[in-house]
Amino acid sequence: MSETIGFYDFTNTELVKAARLGPGMNIVDLACGAGHTARSIIENVGSRCSIYAIDSSREMIRLASESIHSPAVQFIYGDAAQLNELVPVGIDRILCNAAFFHFPDPRAVLTAAGQILSEKGRFLFNIPDQDFDFGDGTPSGMARLVSERLNQPFDASQLGRYSYTRIQKLATGCGFELEDFTVLNFPLLPEDVIGFYSIPHVGARRLPELSTKDRRRALEQAFADLSPEEMPQYRWAQFIVAPKGS
Ligand SMILES: C[S@@+](CC[C@H](N)C(=O)[O-])C[C@H]1O[C@@H](n2cnc3c(N)ncnc32)[C@H](O)[C@@H]1O
Repeated sequence: MSETIGFYDFTNTELVKAARLGPGMNIVDLACGAGHTARSIIENVGSRCSIYAIDSSREMIRLASESIHSPAVQFIYGDAAQLNELVPVGIDRILCNAAFFHFPDPRAVLTAAGQILSEKGRFLFNIPDQDFDFGDGTPSGMARLVSERLNQPFDASQLGRYSYTRIQKLATGCGFELEDFTVLNFPLLPEDVIGFYSIPHVGARRLPELSTKDRRRALEQAFADLSPEEMPQYRWAQFIVAPKGS
């Protein structure tokens, strides 16, 4: 995760833009990883805000705190489902880039978020096409490409755990309203796919028999002769949810 992966830059930029941040806000970077979103928030509003950067991996919290030196940021080790115990009430924005679909209990996360968000607060998160069914019968181009290139069977039934309807039900059931749904479409680069599948826990699902080093070599070989023009578009669903009646 310390490697920069282009599509996280893209999704993060869109998320921060959609959040309409302002000075003085209390902001949570939920599942902050190496601190991409926190950095981007500081670039947008400077240090005149409070940022709570939370992750359930001590290693990620260490990486983030080593690379961000701003008095505005507090790094907190903890689980997203316990968010309400980790930060004070009166939060203006919760931004969650590239992580919501990793949460084993999204209902618990939304419920906790509802307890700390201010009345006008917003929770923003995004979901990539491997985990989101856009309802048009087109499964993830990224997942298909990786299967083809690694000579593995492509099983679309393993994809699309989330959908618009599921998010709407989840949000409503936890006291939120769906305020905005945006489909993000952007080009995928071969080096991004290699970087993404070289993340140990991601690559281990595809090539469990290889060491991290051998896996990167295998991925580089598999994608070596692909030009950017042959790459599929990458789609992400972006959501903004607001406390009901706000
Ligand atoms: C794909 S990374 C995204 C990191 C970061 N948001 C970014 O944009 O680069 C997913 C992150 O979610 C964190 N994570 C997964 N489950 C979590 C949970 N239940 N609570 C908090 N963090 C979690 C992981 O440790 C990892 O850092």
